[in-house]
Amino acid sequence: MRLVLLGAPGAGKGTQAKKLIEKYAIPQISTGDLLRAAVSAGTPLGKEAKSYMDKGELVPDKVVLGMVEERLKKDDCKKGYILDGFPRNTVQAEALDKMLTSLKMPLDSALSVDVPFEDLMKRLTGRRTCKACGQMFNVYFNAPKKEGKCDKCNGDLFQRDDDKEATIKKRLEVYNSQTAPLMDYYKKKGILKAVAGVGSIDAIFDKVCAALGGK
Ligand code: AP5
Ligand code: MG
Repeated sequence: MRLVLLGAPGAGKGTQAKKLIEKYAIPQISTGDLLRAAVSAGTPLGKEAKSYMDKGELVPDKVVLGMVEERLKKDDCKKGYILDGFPRNTVQAEALDKMLTSLKMPLDSALSVDVPFEDLMKRLTGRRTCKACGQMFNVYFNAPKKEGKCDKCNGDLFQRDDDKEATIKKRLEVYNSQTAPLMDYYKKKGILKAVAGVGSIDAIFDKVCAALGGK
């Protein structure tokens, strides 16, 4: 399965991707996670990216495209891949198409997880992520059993720097103006699928699998 996951910040792309990894045994390529890893490692790329991420703006296309191409060339992507948070605008989508054609691994589907805007703020301000294994929780909707600790591996949970109300507002604006038009881009290609991202995480996952052909 070769998949792009589309959806607003907080729509549950990462949450559903983690379940898809388990079911289909293919890697998740999250540009947000790759950028945050570069920020934590303090690399020059990470330092450049952080200034954009903290403002809720997109990191320059050139930086992200190089990172994705390098990742897609790794052996584990031969079985398929889940692109999460990429592409983010038409320039990235066109560059991705070219890249995938030359790597001979074109997309099967672009799946949009649709969540009403009024639900997103609480999902993002309540999000907590495990430092060790990346599992996501939410203090309002799916709280960890022990405060500040991961249910899966007992790692410490952290709150993302960009999950502050002002930054979230900017991210949602950027999504509306730059990323939402990709729905049309993939619709025209005939590979767009969509599911409503409200309800329980497991119920949404069932809809995701059904939309992807239930394979
Ligand atoms: P990125 O990390 O991609 O963030 P995002 O797109 O804003 O999306 P999120 O990760 O915030 O949300 P999600 O949809 O994954 O939701 P999640 O599953 O965590 O990007 C961050 C930044 O990096 C960007 O702003 C930009 O600066 C830069 N960047 C990244 N990619 C880039 C690119 N391609 N080009 C340029 N710049 C780029 O869920 C959210 C919360 O909701 C969690 O707490 C979860 O537990 C909860 N939740 C999930 N499902 C449900 C449910 N059904 N009911 C209740 N709660 C739920
Ligand atoms: Mg995410």
